Amino acid sequence: MNQKFIFAFILLFAISVTNAITLKKRTTEFLKCNSLDPLSFISVIVSPNPPVPGQNATFSVSGVLGQDIKENGVIIIAFRTDDCVPLGVYPTTSVPPTKAGIYFGATIEATVPRNFKLHNSTVYYINAYLENGNVPIGCAEACFGQRCKN
Ligand SMILES: *[C@@H]1O[C@H](CO)[C@@H](O)[C@H](O)[C@H]1NC(C)=O
Ligand SMILES: *[C@@H]1O[C@H](CO)[C@@H](O)[C@H](O)[C@H]1NC(C)=O
Repeated sequence: MNQKFIFAFILLFAISVTNAITLKKRTTEFLKCNSLDPLSFISVIVSPNPPVPGQNATFSVSGVLGQDIKENGVIIIAFRTDDCVPLGVYPTTSVPPTKAGIYFGATIEATVPRNFKLHNSTVYYINAYLENGNVPIGCAEACFGQRCKN
């Protein structure tokens, strides 16, 4: 009787841990961009999470940068393949000029391309860039697919 109870308890525990791991994998987390020339990290929260191909998603981008966001500051949301092939035209939105060291925040609504694969053997990315004109100053990226490292 006692042993059965312990067994049931362990089983429940195992199920809840498995669920927690699966849940973590299903949600999107934006991390530092994996480029040779690391840019300042910008925080990105996407809603719905995970985004749905063919539907709109809202990206809330914020952070504190070490340099000024100028008059021509923009946020770009890039849906791309592992080989940096763009999926559709990247939506952009302007960001209010913000001095270095001051918190900035902006939201951008984007339509997730229909051919963007969330659970494919190929790896897909969403990158968020903050640029002054064409000069990138901040970045974050989220990886989708079975071969993502995180
Ligand atoms: C989806 O986003 C696009 C781009 O921002 C916008 O033009 C369109 O109105 C949005 N559609 C819906 C249903 O919200
Ligand atoms: C993954 O994406 C590629 C390219 O879009 C496609 O050819 C392939 O069929 C997809 N695989 C799965 C399992 O969806």
